[in-house]
Amino acid sequence: MLRDLVLKNRSCRRFYQDNTIELETLRELVDLARLSASGSNKQALKYILSNDPQRNALIFKNIGLAGNPREEEAPTAYIIILGDKRISNSFGCDHGIAAQTILLGAVEKGFGGCMVGIINRGDLSKSMEIPPHFEILLVLILGKSKEAPVIETEFKDGTNMSWVDDEGIRHVPKRSLDDIIVV
Ligand SMILES: Cc1cc2nc3c(=O)[nH]c(=O)nc-3n(C[C@H](O)[C@H](O)[C@H](O)COP(=O)(O)O)c2cc1C
Repeated sequence: MLRDLVLKNRSCRRFYQDNTIELETLRELVDLARLSASGSNKQALKYILSNDPQRNALIFKNIGLAGNPREEEAPTAYIIILGDKRISNSFGCDHGIAAQTILLGAVEKGFGGCMVGIINRGDLSKSMEIPPHFEILLVLILGKSKEAPVIETEFKDGTNMSWVDDEGIRHVPKRSLDDIIVV
C-alpha cells in the first residue's frame, strides 16, 4: 500500500557498509523518476549514479547530514539530481517529484535514504568534474539503513526539528491533518 511505503520512507542517514546497491538497481530507481510528471514536460533532469567507494567518498564529504554520521556509517550509494541548463533555466518542483519517487522506490526494494539539499556545490562539481551546464539540485543518499525513525504527533521544545532519544532512535514530528487543511 502506498501509505505504508510513505510511512516507512523516513529520512535515514546511517547505513550498513556490507551492502551495496547495484548500478542496475539505481538505474531502475531513476527510471521511476523518468516516468514521473515534469513541468511543461521539459524533462530537464539528469542523474549521476554512484555506488563505488571512491566516488561515494567524494560525495559524502560535500554534503551536510543531520546528526553528522561517521564515515563508517556512510551511504553506500548516491543519486545526484542535476538540472540540465541546456534544456531549461528553471526546474520547478521536478526534482522534488523525482526525489520522492526514487526514495519510495528504494524503500519498496528494502533500502532507505534521504534527500540532501545542503551541498557544497562548487567543490562537488569540481571533484566530480560535473560540466557547467548542469546545476546540482539535490543529492539522494541510499543504502541499507541502520535507522528506523518514528513519526511523532507532538512537537518537542516548540520546534519542528526531529530529535534522537537515548536509544539512538530519531523521532520526527508531523503536523496534524487538521492543522494543514485550511478549508
Ligand atoms: C528539499 C529537502 C532537502 C533536505 N536536505 C537535507 C539535508 O541537507 N540534510 C539532511 O540531513 N536532511 C535533509 N532533508 C531531510 C529532512 O531533514 C527530513 O525530510 C525531515 O527532517 C523530516 O523527516 P522525514 O523525511 O523522515 O519525514 C531534506 C529534505 C528535503 C525535502
